Amino acid sequence: KKDTFILGIETSCDETAVAIVKNGKEIISNVVASQIESHKRFGGVVPEIASRHHVEQITVVLEEAFTDAELTWDSIDAIAVTEGPGLVGALLVGVNAAKALAFAKQKPLIGVHHIAGHIYANRLQNEFEFPLLALIVSGGHTELVLMNEHGKYELLGETRDDAAGEAYDKVARMLELPYPGGPQIDRLAKSGEVTIDFPRAWLEQGSYDFSFSGLKSSVINTIHNAKQRGELLSNEDIAASFQESVIDVLTTKTVNAAKEFQVKQVIVAGGVAANQGLRSALEEQFNQLNIPLLIPPLHLCTDNAAMIAAAGTIAYEQGRRSGMDLNANGSLLM
Ligand code: KG4
Ligand code: ZN
Repeated sequence: KKDTFILGIETSCDETAVAIVKNGKEIISNVVASQIESHKRFGGVVPEIASRHHVEQITVVLEEAFTDAELTWDSIDAIAVTEGPGLVGALLVGVNAAKALAFAKQKPLIGVHHIAGHIYANRLQNEFEFPLLALIVSGGHTELVLMNEHGKYELLGETRDDAAGEAYDKVARMLELPYPGGPQIDRLAKSGEVTIDFPRAWLEQGSYDFSFSGLKSSVINTIHNAKQRGELLSNEDIAASFQESVIDVLTTKTVNAAKEFQVKQVIVAGGVAANQGLRSALEEQFNQLNIPLLIPPLHLCTDNAAMIAAAGTIAYEQGRRSGMDLNANGSLLM
């Protein structure tokens, strides 16, 4: 059987990324240009700045992906691009680059859902076994997705307000930590103690939805009240207590869903999957349950194009193609 080479393009947020993946499993090249330094001083991603950087970077990153791969366009079977969700101005750069390339090089075009990409980052490490449960936790997402077969996604639950990573970033900003705050809180939490009992939003019985805005408000109020009383709370303890609350909800709901749907694998994806506390809590739980837990290495947890190429490969094999009317969709549904 002939090998399949898919070119992936990802520009949904603040990384300009292009990758080439072989047979949906093997990374041939994976180039990521991060804009984090440009957004840092604003404490978050500024959409307009993100779009401009993507425009500046996309052809540079594309060329580098081919140089690294030591391949030419002749080998490429199709172009997969993130069509959404994400920042619409940022997505537009990737989608239009993909369309232009598909037209110029006469290659099939495949629109990919960003979250499908995060899930398929795991297939670059391990083959999937179904049913499979995926927990996606990033700056923009907190979702539990069930998969019974390749390319089919059933949304079990999602956040009703802030994403987990967003909550991390907001709490970090309150503690005057630099952006992105997730890794900072994670680091502080290691040397802190759980001294504050922050709330956990379990929502309705059996619900797989999440909510983190109440927790965020509770952290703000706790810090504010302590200040007024002239009390000194350690940042480490706030971080540890906040993190405990987030991890408790994420882990419990993931375990419940894994049991209910008797899944054969649990996959974790997205930037927050880098969190040490979350990793060890999930590892402990799923070890006990004897359910294999897959977490991709850090550079594949965060946004990249190899994951888009990997998800695009399945779509390609299943015969899915997008037309030249493919458009960026900031709130694309799963
Ligand atoms: O997947 P990602 O790179 O971008 C999005 O698609 O959102 O995720 C970035 C998010 C940020 O909110 C960042 O603070 C969070 O992931 N993050 C972490 C950690 N590393 C990154 N959150 C908690 N603990 C970490 N170690
Ligand atoms: Zn992402």
